[in-house]
Amino acid sequence: MSESAPSPFTPGYGRKPAIFGGHGEELTELRRVFDTLDFGENHSVLVSGLRGVGKTSFLTTLQDDAREAGWLVISDDASAGLMGRVMDSTIPTLINERAPEYRARLSKLGIWQFNAEVSYVDRHRSVKPQLRTDLVALSAALDGSAGILITVDEVSAGKVRLRELSKFALQVSHALEDGAQVMVVFAGVKVSLDALLAEAHTTFLRRSREVEFERLSAPETRRVFVETARLGGRSIEQEALDKLVSLSQGYPYLVQLAGDYAWRNNSADPTITLADATVAHDRAIKAVESRVISRVYGDLSDVDQKFLDAMAQDDDRTKVADIVKRMGVSDAYVQVYKKRLLDSGYVHAAGRGYVQFSLPYLGAHIRRQLAAEASDNRGDGGWSAYPAPDLPS
Ligand SMILES: Nc1ncnc2c1ncn2[C@@H]1O[C@H](COP(=O)(O)OP(=O)(O)OP(=O)(O)O)[C@@H](O)[C@H]1O
Ligand SMILES: [Mg+2]
Repeated sequence: MSESAPSPFTPGYGRKPAIFGGHGEELTELRRVFDTLDFGENHSVLVSGLRGVGKTSFLTTLQDDAREAGWLVISDDASAGLMGRVMDSTIPTLINERAPEYRARLSKLGIWQFNAEVSYVDRHRSVKPQLRTDLVALSAALDGSAGILITVDEVSAGKVRLRELSKFALQVSHALEDGAQVMVVFAGVKVSLDALLAEAHTTFLRRSREVEFERLSAPETRRVFVETARLGGRSIEQEALDKLVSLSQGYPYLVQLAGDYAWRNNSADPTITLADATVAHDRAIKAVESRVISRVYGDLSDVDQKFLDAMAQDDDRTKVADIVKRMGVSDAYVQVYKKRLLDSGYVHAAGRGYVQFSLPYLGAHIRRQLAAEASDNRGDGGWSAYPAPDLPS
């Protein structure tokens, strides 16, 4: 027996996987832009998908690749104060990290003040601070050798946030018009990105490359398990691999959780066995239910939830006509919600007139929830027999 080895699997939000499954084409194309500055349609990219499907990991992967190609990288969340953070903190830090020659070229552009060691000191107060001007200057000083990657994660559909984000987008689009070499990537759930596109000033985003994240294909899922384990110095038995692939259903967060549990079950053994995979099974599904599935469900409006509740009565796929009956509403009404849920990736079509959950175990989660609620209602502590009396008037 060798010593136990640390797990190379990375369960957890925003943890970049050791082996990145899927999306090979998009990554290859975007990496090519980092090397050639030949943007084509890739000045703006929209990344959408459910929670835990790998959006943040994809952004991190892009950031690492861009930095490697010498690009400036600005990454932030779409939370309040985005513009201020980027202009007052991120950009000065980026400037000071660059080589002195770069800063010397910037100092000639007159936007920022530098000290004798050509370190950033402050803005020149004579120039109206605008992200647009900053980006154009930062890009020009790169002398055509590299560009600027901006990633904005966690786009959400709140009104105030969206207004702020559309202002940010407008500045970026002006910088592009002025010739700055910029790629901007926004990530969020589909409904939020759609809301962003509907805002003023974001028309340029309608030409974006769209990357929609769904679960990985079965072969890619196998590859992630095998190669991740191999990086950690272990192999996976055939039956164990089959079990891990089918339990994860290609859902990235679940792939990492299942791999991690299986790994830790007996991490001194050179191979991951069927016994390890079997132990991982229950634990991984339980963990993914509390960390991912319940949050995904909680993101939805009441009506969307009712739609999914109606679906959960079936084990596999559900007839849309049955949803109409179960919800007791019109067919047209159900069609509207069906389209929304299809667009946002919660459900997919499964044959004519049928829908199915996209996220493994979501149906089972809802069934368990509904059963628990039903028994809660019965268990009211016996108080239904003792209604509160009316107060004397
Ligand atoms: N392409 C991938 N291949 C394998 N594992 C991945 C891949 N992408 C992400 N993961 C793993 O999946 C988990 C979730 O990833 P991530 O946090 O990027 O998802 P997300 O879509 O940003 O979620 P959220 O919407 O909640 O922010 C992490 O454990 C990560 O290591
Ligand atoms: Mg994320």
